[in-house]
Amino acid sequence: MSDYIVEMRHITKRFPGIVANDDVTIQVKKGEIFALLGENGAGKSTLMSMLFGMYEPDEGDIYIRGEKVRISSPNHATKLNIGMVHQHFKLVSNYTIAENIVMGMEPVKKVLGLFPAVDMKQANEDIRALSQKYGLEVEPTDVIENINVSTQQRVEILKMLYREAEILIFDEPTAVLTPQEIEFLLDIIKGLRENGKTIILITHKLEEIKKVADRCAILNRGRLIDVLDVKETSTRKMANLMVGREVSFETPKKEPEFGKEVLKVEHMTVVNQDHFEVVKDVSFTVHGGEIFAIAGVAGNGQIEVADAIAGLLPLHKGKVWLNGKDITEESIRRRALEGISYIPEDRQNYGIVMDFTLSENLGLRSYFREPFSRKGILDKKAFDSYAEDLIDKYDIRSGQGLRTVVRSMSGGNQQKAIIAREIEQESDLMIFVQPTRGLDIGAIENIRRQMIGERDKGKAILLISLELDEIMDCADTIGVIYNGKIQKIADARTLTTNEVGEFMMGVKRHA
Ligand SMILES: Nc1ncnc2c1ncn2[C@@H]1O[C@H](COP(=O)(O)OP(=O)(O)OP(=O)(O)O)[C@@H](O)[C@H]1O
Ligand SMILES: [Mg+2]
Repeated sequence: MSDYIVEMRHITKRFPGIVANDDVTIQVKKGEIFALLGENGAGKSTLMSMLFGMYEPDEGDIYIRGEKVRISSPNHATKLNIGMVHQHFKLVSNYTIAENIVMGMEPVKKVLGLFPAVDMKQANEDIRALSQKYGLEVEPTDVIENINVSTQQRVEILKMLYREAEILIFDEPTAVLTPQEIEFLLDIIKGLRENGKTIILITHKLEEIKKVADRCAILNRGRLIDVLDVKETSTRKMANLMVGREVSFETPKKEPEFGKEVLKVEHMTVVNQDHFEVVKDVSFTVHGGEIFAIAGVAGNGQIEVADAIAGLLPLHKGKVWLNGKDITEESIRRRALEGISYIPEDRQNYGIVMDFTLSENLGLRSYFREPFSRKGILDKKAFDSYAEDLIDKYDIRSGQGLRTVVRSMSGGNQQKAIIAREIEQESDLMIFVQPTRGLDIGAIENIRRQMIGERDKGKAILLISLELDEIMDCADTIGVIYNGKIQKIADARTLTTNEVGEFMMGVKRHA
């Protein structure tokens, strides 16, 4: 019997214009946590999609428990006890938790001792027992659309466990979670290892790898660079190997020079569908040349503040001013034209058209303007040369450059495309919601530089981030939101990370 539960030997996978995996060999031991690290587009998701039977390799072999296999479908992978939680979840939103978990493998009872029928009562009980065993509490009868992202992720994990998966693949599971939820998930993953499971974890967060992983494979542009023993490797070394150069962990930034007031929010109150006040009497201003960051634990109203400024949500009370003009009643499109760029949280639904090319997506906000359109006629050349510039400046990687259909791009590169398009609008106000989520370290460095560059050009920036490090590194002014209310607004230089943390928890009140 082989020492390895999973072996992928000399795997090559080509897509039009790109070798996504180029002669990659990884060997995973039973009961270890094996991390996969690499830049956006390095080929991590592709490699794992082959292990889960979604694609077949062009070259190379896969061995499971020492036996050579051709994994032809996710069903086949399931039979081999392989499970995967994808970058974007795949649950049926109007089904219950239990229905989603048992789908295709429902327990059956005999009605009148004769007719087989799905035994949902049994299913609910099974799932309750399973969730207790692994510390993944869920209410089996809750409907998916009513539960939050972190609970949905628990459901995905339970779904794998219900299918008796022994090899568990997690594709960027922490990208959608808050810092508290991340801690919890990492504990769950360690618990799974203690239960004898083997885990393959894709993440961009070096601290997470340091915390839980035993070994770490590094991919760069489709090639395997190295496999490291995590205990013996510093995060700096991992970062440098991954990017192929020295990475700086700090973003250089000069002293702010505030210009005129660009955004003014006055007594903003926003009410959700259940008539509950999610934003309560919030007021603040952002000047040209200022990065104003809203810090807060997820779900405290910060997204609603951003949506209301961009026009996606109506204000219940209060006013929004842009460059001295009241825009409270204006449409989303009007606000965009008057100078608001918006990088929303839900990028796949609001940011991008998946079946358009990269060039078309990059031009989406400008097509009706010169030089892209003259007297109503679109100039394709103008689109393309504009797109080429952005692809270069923001290092957007894909198989076929500007002709790539966005759906086929890696998650991180889709995101870089939205950021590029929005920054390049030269809007007076730029709203960034979680701009670096899901990006690799090199890309994060680049995006932060671009954001600070815009601020230095005199743009007003509203940054919403769950990552306190990002806020402390970038912000000139910090507003802390808790339970829909701004608790504190102060010059970032006068606040420590700890203080901001305390305001975020509602422990400390406005002095
Ligand atoms: N179905 C597909 N068709 C065409 N090209 C694809 C397809 N899937 C992936 N690619 C390309 O293969 C490369 C690797 O993509 P992959 O999604 O594996 O990257 P990744 O390492 O997971 O990146 P990220 O960190 O951004 O998620 C990318 O250049 C991507 O554009
Ligand atoms: Mg990926």
